[in-house]
Amino acid sequence: MSKFFAFLLFIGFSCASVLPSDFAWGAATAAFQVEGAWNVSGRGPCIWDFFQDFPNRIYNNETAHVADDFYDRYPSDIKILQQLGIKNFRLSFSWTRLLPNGLVSNVNQAGVQFYNNLIDALLLAGIQPYVTLYHWDLPQAFNNLTAQSTWLDPDIVNKFNAYADFCFKTFGNKVKYWLTLNEIESIAWGGYGVGSAAPGRCSPSFGDWCQQVGGGGNSSTEPYLVAHNALLAHAAAVQTYRKNYQKTQKGKIGMTINSGFNLPWDSSDEDDYKAVQYSIAFQYGWFADPQVFGRYPTEMSELITGNRLPTFTPEQSALLKGSYDFLGLNYYASGYVHWTGIPGDNYQNDGRYTGSPYNKTGHLIGPFAESTWLNVYPPGLRMLLNWIKARYNDPDIYIFENGVSVPGENDMPEAQALNDTFRMNYIYNHVLNMVDAVVNDKVRVKGYFLWSLLDNFEWTQGFSIRFGITYVNYNQNLTRAIKNSAYLYQSLIGYLGTHH
Ligand code: NOJ
Repeated sequence: MSKFFAFLLFIGFSCASVLPSDFAWGAATAAFQVEGAWNVSGRGPCIWDFFQDFPNRIYNNETAHVADDFYDRYPSDIKILQQLGIKNFRLSFSWTRLLPNGLVSNVNQAGVQFYNNLIDALLLAGIQPYVTLYHWDLPQAFNNLTAQSTWLDPDIVNKFNAYADFCFKTFGNKVKYWLTLNEIESIAWGGYGVGSAAPGRCSPSFGDWCQQVGGGGNSSTEPYLVAHNALLAHAAAVQTYRKNYQKTQKGKIGMTINSGFNLPWDSSDEDDYKAVQYSIAFQYGWFADPQVFGRYPTEMSELITGNRLPTFTPEQSALLKGSYDFLGLNYYASGYVHWTGIPGDNYQNDGRYTGSPYNKTGHLIGPFAESTWLNVYPPGLRMLLNWIKARYNDPDIYIFENGVSVPGENDMPEAQALNDTFRMNYIYNHVLNMVDAVVNDKVRVKGYFLWSLLDNFEWTQGFSIRFGITYVNYNQNLTRAIKNSAYLYQSLIGYLGTHH
């Protein structure tokens, strides 16, 4: 800990304003993971309500029907934000709480009222809302039409645009930061590649795993098609905002993209450096290149065989180009990548390289978190921020998610879980790397949001994996308790957020 205090002193004395004066410190959540109240006051079903009801898809067959009951408890959760000095809060709208069958012809006034109340309460507490329009909870009504009516359907672009337009019109006088979509890479592969996320569709190369989770068999083109339609939906919504709302409402809009920053598995093999570059292009570049350049990364068009990677028409390309006020980043983990040269579909990399927490000499990149995919590597954040700055001509960047699940946390008694030194370390080291990127590398990072304010429903892992800086006791009436990592975050904000 002494290193930590030395760091605070250094910050306190030597750089009164290391971060831009409008830097946003925040905490993040998503509707499906925290709200609960799944069938009250007119909310329509979403694809996750349906997906989670099939046996053995979710850890312990848990459901998010109640989740953290944020729907009823948001007033006291806002008090926690206030107490910790967190002035920015990322939430998502449940599409089907606002529009039960997904269409603007059928508005649920109780849903509008709920989000108005929530936003008003945040503003009254001096907290800026950042709203994600889509955090994976697609209206089940679309899925019911045909299995193809989800993100595979080009008409999703119009449906999403109409929903976005409705949100800007209804809430845009109060909401000044909009995120169209969250982590489409995760759901393109999870929902349409390996079948581990709703709607649970699978590409043929994932046959066994798909059997296990009960998905259908489809062509391996689906993840690319899903991403394509999502990008077009994003561009349409941004155009709507810019044309009809932005001038008067004076807000900002963008998307958030998940990515790690990988290292070469064999540092003496040139091909593995190529794997590094390609793996990031396949993850971050997949969604950022179209927004900045109006096309997919050349790394992707080079490697993806056949015509599986769709192309943009000149009009679509023009619409996409520049469709952001900032680039969003969700950063958690990194790994070592190795170029295999073997073509074929694979999760996240189309088969040319494999990712591993160990390098060739058996060195582990960083500690394992509770989530199997989460290998802690804080310097990767600084490297990735620099990669984004260089590739995309120095954009404004928001880190919209960063956080960790502590090994064994769910098996600990509450009192022990509250002393989450593993998470404190994680937060401290990532914030430090971000500050380095801003101060020394001049990366234009405008905000940092922790995932998450609360322990919550971690998708297929149910409640077994905790990411919160606030503990939620699922056995005792969902009571909240502040973890030590939250107090650490409070002091970091206090020192780093001070501007003189
Ligand atoms: C990414 C997602 O946006 C969020 O929903 C999830 O809970 C966290 N990462 C942790 O896995």
